[in-house]
Amino acid sequence: MSNVKIIDHPLIQHKLSLIRNKDTGSKEFRELVEELALLMGYEVTHDLPLEDIEIETPIGPTTAKIIAGKKVAIVPILRAGLGMVDGMLRLIPAAKVGHIGLYRDPETLEPIEYYCKLPMDIGERDLIVVDPMLATGGSASAAIAFLKKRGVGNIKLVCLVAAPEGIDRIRKDHPDVNIFVAAVDECLNEHGYIVPGLGDAGDRLFGTK
Ligand code: PRP
Ligand code: URA
Repeated sequence: MSNVKIIDHPLIQHKLSLIRNKDTGSKEFRELVEELALLMGYEVTHDLPLEDIEIETPIGPTTAKIIAGKKVAIVPILRAGLGMVDGMLRLIPAAKVGHIGLYRDPETLEPIEYYCKLPMDIGERDLIVVDPMLATGGSASAAIAFLKKRGVGNIKLVCLVAAPEGIDRIRKDHPDVNIFVAAVDECLNEHGYIVPGLGDAGDRLFGTK
């Protein structure tokens, strides 16, 4: 699948197993999700453009590379996407952060929007949309469609655990979006939860169940 990258570095697999474990509590779960976002961010940012600068090392002058002032925004899908923001920001501290609030209607599984606040210049930025879970794909697809209406061209979607159904949905609705995941699981259950997954990411992050 050309626009899907599974980032399965051993550290990522290890930390993912820890958050899958139902006995992992909220504090550790939050720390691990942040660390996973940071580790994934390393790969997600592999194509950031560089530019040359002239510097002096203690030994002498040289031409060196720095990130070329590319404008980036990180957009978490609330709530669970919030858990991935700080990890990404540790790699790209100058990035702006936009928020899109969506929840899945438990009956229909359709995404319901309840909040949106984006940087003014969102249309000029490359976006990294973050959400730990890609289940039916409805939430991520709706968020991406919304961002495209605001004029955003370059969008990457970064999720920890995906179901095949969610990946198929994003590839169908948004073939231009590159998807980064740490794992693709077996399927969805009758309630739309990823199997084996890790349960409800928002509830586990914020201790609401
Ligand atoms: C979860 C998750 C995704 C969505 C995935 O959010 O964080 O946003 O479900 O499911 P989908 O691919 O079928 O749309 P949820 O609706 O539980 O809201 P929360 O983050 O506030 O808990
Ligand atoms: N949302 C979650 O938090 N977990 C799932 O398995 C599916 C949707």
